[in-house]
Amino acid sequence: MLAGMDVFESSLGNRDWQVVIERALRGEISEPIVNVDRQDTREFDAIFVGGGAGGRFGSAFLRARGGRQLTVDRWPFLGGTCPHQACVPHHLFSEAARELDLGRWLSGTLWFPDFDDKRASILQMAELFRAGRNTAHSFMNWQSKQQLGMEYILNTPATVIDEHTVEVAGERFRGRSIILGTGASTEVPHIPGIELPGVYDFVSLVEELDYEPNRCVIIGGSKVAIEYGSFFQAAGCPTTIVSRSPLMRTASLHHVDEDLRRYVVDGMCRRGMTICEGASPLEVIGNGRAAGVRTRLADGTVETLAADFVFIGTGERANSAPFVQALGVDVDGQGSIVVDRRMRTSAPSVYAIGDLIGPPMEMFKARKCGMTAARNVMGEPYEFDFSEYPDFLHSTYEITWVGLTEAEARERFGDVIVIQMPPAGVEPDEIPLPCAEGSMLYAFTRPELTGFQKCVIDAATRRVVGAHHVGFGAKDAFQYLDYLLRRPGGLTVDEMAEMNELFLNPEHFIQLCRLRAGRSELVDL
Ligand SMILES: Cc1cc2nc3c(=O)[nH]c(=O)nc-3n(C[C@H](O)[C@H](O)[C@H](O)COP(=O)(O)OP(=O)(O)OC[C@H]3O[C@@H](n4cnc5c(N)ncnc54)[C@H](O)[C@@H]3O)c2cc1C
Ligand SMILES: NC(=O)c1ccc[n+]([C@@H]2O[C@H](COP(=O)([O-])OP(=O)(O)OC[C@H]3O[C@@H](n4cnc5c(N)ncnc54)[C@H](OP(=O)(O)O)[C@@H]3O)[C@@H](O)[C@H]2O)c1
Repeated sequence: MLAGMDVFESSLGNRDWQVVIERALRGEISEPIVNVDRQDTREFDAIFVGGGAGGRFGSAFLRARGGRQLTVDRWPFLGGTCPHQACVPHHLFSEAARELDLGRWLSGTLWFPDFDDKRASILQMAELFRAGRNTAHSFMNWQSKQQLGMEYILNTPATVIDEHTVEVAGERFRGRSIILGTGASTEVPHIPGIELPGVYDFVSLVEELDYEPNRCVIIGGSKVAIEYGSFFQAAGCPTTIVSRSPLMRTASLHHVDEDLRRYVVDGMCRRGMTICEGASPLEVIGNGRAAGVRTRLADGTVETLAADFVFIGTGERANSAPFVQALGVDVDGQGSIVVDRRMRTSAPSVYAIGDLIGPPMEMFKARKCGMTAARNVMGEPYEFDFSEYPDFLHSTYEITWVGLTEAEARERFGDVIVIQMPPAGVEPDEIPLPCAEGSMLYAFTRPELTGFQKCVIDAATRRVVGAHHVGFGAKDAFQYLDYLLRRPGGLTVDEMAEMNELFLNPEHFIQLCRLRAGRSELVDL
């Protein structure tokens, strides 16, 4: 039996867990943290390798179905990359970007002091996150044990031996099935100089940054590039994005409406960012430390873009290699594990979930993959189709979209109606519309910064087929809209008009649809 810190009989509180996790992260606790019921002689229905978003939600669901699971994570906490290095810092930085943006535009007006670039520190934000992230970690350990009844071993990696066996710190555990959920890692571009100090990705930014960046070049045009770049720029660090594809036109993003994209990209440029589309990074230059990126621009010229901080935004690849080696599971051309809609891999009784099976690498997908695998292990033939989903990202705005773009709808349907703010033909600086929750201060000071909203309707069926939003506070609405749009009967403009808006709302789709729903023949608005 493996030696470790046995916590099964203790009921550690959130504060106790914080201390344990902090010490483990500092290397002061190197032994496994073991929460296993050694008295329970039942076989494990599933062993989850990785206790991130997919592993933890799958584990909880399997327990709820009456099964027995064991979850193993190399980190001293459950929850994975999202609270440790990805979504949570991303949201902290994006909220900071929004505040900083407002502070800049309203500098010296109302109660806003003169904006001082030197007081907005990227380093300080990275440190703030590092110091505070432990609270989420401790809660997940506490909740998983005390409220969800999960068994787990943390602070040590698992090695898969065969389709039913996993080795953890020298002890072998057998399960009826194995569920792989070890996530993905940054795809580092193969260019000279990429290993120089001063080159960061989303992980090393929060783990290692120890100076204040003054000029940034981002390699790649990913979501991460747009989100982190907008934050760096807002914090006073002039930022250039070097992107092969036009921004937001990379393969991992679908249903991006061109008008929405233009509003976002123009907004980034208006805020001083430099965006080089159709450009290729050739080399990170520097003498012992990154000093710039030699780049081939769209017109073929080669230029060195100066930077003391280079940020990698080239996406992620699945951590599948150990499982190809141990089990021979099938992978696709990008190295993502191939699964069917029940999350079954090519190896019998082995499932894979989350980022490990490739894009979209989003929390909803990871969690629902875990749940899907758990249901199937417990005998329910359940399928998960994630080909359609709502999506979002941040610039200094929150940008949300669901369903079809206007162009896609025009291709699919004969007659398409568009309801949008500002209306087609009205310039953004002409009138402060949409005047919406979250952008009121912009509406009364900078009308052109108030955002963009578009609702796309199939005229024949009167069904809403797409919605697109740049503003603040609409994410919740979009996750429910997604559900309504995907119902068998969909959502009609008339049903939308029947809804009760909480005026003054972040997006105006209900009241705008109501203005048109009375007509038997719909027209644009
Ligand atoms: C910067 C950034 C921002 C993001 N923001 C968002 C967002 O706002 N919203 C959103 O929906 N998605 C966001 N994502 C995506 C989201 O973080 C992932 O989709 C999600 O974390 C995937 O969950 P997972 O369970 O597949 O993997 P992970 O959460 O990465 O979990 C994998 C786990 O496996 C463990 N592990 C690895 N190897 C072993 C081993 N050998 N033995 C034991 N354990 C092991 C790891 O320690 C980890 O805990 C973001 C991603 C990035 C990079
Ligand atoms: N919900 C969120 O807010 C959020 C936030 C972050 C990440 N995520 C998820 O995490 C996953 C990874 O996202 P991501 O945004 O990091 O990456 P991504 O969407 O996969 O985009 C990768 C970007 O890097 C470029 N690229 C790749 N290799 C390159 C190279 N060698 N040289 C130059 N450019 C290169 C790609 O260009 P091309 O287009 O030309 O190929 C693309 O612009 C996605 O599934 C995403 O949805 C979600």
